Amino acid sequence: MRAIIPVAGVGTRLRPHTYTLPKVLLNVAGKPILAHILDALIRQDISKCTIVTGYMGKLVQEYVLANYKIDITFVPQRESLGLGHAIWTARETFDDEPLMIILGDTIFDADLTFSKKAKTSTIGVKEVEDPRRFGVVLLDNKGMIKKFVEKPEQPTSNLAIVGIYYISNPMLLKSCLEHLINNDIRTREEYQLTDALQLMLERGEKFNTFNVEGWYDCGKPETLLATNRYLLEKSSKPRKFKNAVIIPPVFIADDAIIRRSVVGPFATVASGAVVEDSLVRDSIISDGARVSSSLLKKSIIGNNAIVKGHFNKFNVGNSSEINYQ
Ligand code: UTP
Repeated sequence: MRAIIPVAGVGTRLRPHTYTLPKVLLNVAGKPILAHILDALIRQDISKCTIVTGYMGKLVQEYVLANYKIDITFVPQRESLGLGHAIWTARETFDDEPLMIILGDTIFDADLTFSKKAKTSTIGVKEVEDPRRFGVVLLDNKGMIKKFVEKPEQPTSNLAIVGIYYISNPMLLKSCLEHLINNDIRTREEYQLTDALQLMLERGEKFNTFNVEGWYDCGKPETLLATNRYLLEKSSKPRKFKNAVIIPPVFIADDAIIRRSVVGPFATVASGAVVEDSLVRDSIISDGARVSSSLLKKSIIGNNAIVKGHFNKFNVGNSSEINYQ
């Protein structure tokens, strides 16, 4: 089976980090988002992959080629015209063999082995409180999808499409995407994958769903940090330092340096980063960053960035109160 991973988007919600790195290369729990996705695919025996690149695509390609030996084809999406357009761009790399489409900003913890036996296309879904930000599916009384709707203003279902799609009939998907593009059918100005799936449904394709409980969005600072917390909880990599206290779960790279500090819980300190005289929790300190004399929480410090705080000097009398809140 082939996986298609679209990673061409600009990642505006993660600026300023995405001014210098594509979103998929941002570090979460010790490695780039894309590495979490590719490692999960390899664990599930999916060894052929198409990556649709765009914004800073060269950096994505360089990273993948330097770190992965699986069969990967890179396809450039020249303009960010939507997810449907990104998948359409990859059309030459798919044939009759089923596809797994996985969005580049979603880390998942789901068993994909169902696909080995699946008789129909199957869409990963999760119940969410506010479905208006997502594509949603409506089910019939047999649990099969009867309608796909992209970002409904008045949702009639709270089953959100989470970014994992098993497509058993790629050629039909291709012709439905082609229909959208040839007829310039857009929703919210973009060619939507959800609209192509709806068209597939109308042309007779059957769609099942599978529940994805483990779905970790990396699209915004707060969700990236939540994903960092979740991944560290599952797999912590602490180290010992003579003059620092490490509170797991954390990820501390082998060549990171921690001095006179308290790091953790839920801190990622990436390769070459230095933390000194600081307290850092619930944060991501990226490659080569330097943090000194600082109290940090819920922070994302980019590659090679410098955060330098200061110590306070007080001369405070009896019964005085200093409160920064
Ligand atoms: P998003 O909707 O999250 O867009 O795309 P984005 O650009 O990554 O982020 P924001 O909204 O500007 O903050 C979901 C996935 O689809 C890919 C993105 O790279 C991401 O992995 N995508 C989206 C494309 O490959 N091409 C597109 O035209 C749109």
